[in-house]
Amino acid sequence: MSASVERGQRYTSVAIALHWLIGLAILAMVVMGLLMVHGSLAPANKFRLYQLHKSVGLTILILAVLRLVWRFSHRPPTLPAEMPAWERGAAEGTHVVLYAFMIGLPLVGWALVSASPFNLPTVLYGVLPWPHLSFLSSLPAASKKSVGSVLEMVHAYGAYVLIAFVALHAGAALRHYFIEQDTILQRMIPGLPRFGARSTTRP
Ligand code: HEM
Repeated sequence: MSASVERGQRYTSVAIALHWLIGLAILAMVVMGLLMVHGSLAPANKFRLYQLHKSVGLTILILAVLRLVWRFSHRPPTLPAEMPAWERGAAEGTHVVLYAFMIGLPLVGWALVSASPFNLPTVLYGVLPWPHLSFLSSLPAASKKSVGSVLEMVHAYGAYVLIAFVALHAGAALRHYFIEQDTILQRMIPGLPRFGARSTTRP
């Protein structure tokens, strides 16, 4: 039972680090977002959580852009030749949607705080000031209210759609590990021992 995959059959260490860092951060962001909007927190804690949500969200934006640059400059390992065309298409389509949301959702969040009538400054981790989008922060108060509520809705539903795609993506990876028993999951977790190893010929 082999525990590792060849270098060419796995993602690079940078791609793996960015994948797990962003994945964990997205899960934390959804919990934070739901808690700060729907939870009954004391005002001071709610304020702190909003600030943390903004900081982690903008960090995801930066990391996701870096990840996309890395993806274009480093070819990912090729998928096994015997993988059916529909599955290949579904995997690649899901990856495109995930990239679009990893970048699009934080951008909508940024737009949302820029259009807020409260005009609270965004300071990353309480240290680094982050500018608001001036075309939104300079809107008259009445427009800010209507633009802000549309952006809030897009941000909330966008987060739910993102989570649905993350679940689909994770479910597919677990299916490969437990049911197909191939090494697709090891491409992202190189040291993971194979489960069962039904076939020795499949990569
Ligand atoms: C991948 C990144 C992000 C995820 C997964 C995420 C997720 C969420 C979720 C689940 C909610 C609760 C929605 C609801 O049920 O109403 C929320 C709310 C919110 N998010 Fe994000 N968010 C992200 C990035 C950002 C960024 C970058 C900012 C700002 C710089 C931001 C600002 C906000 C604000 C202000 C709210 C509250 C909106 C309201 O009061 O209705 N988010 N977010």
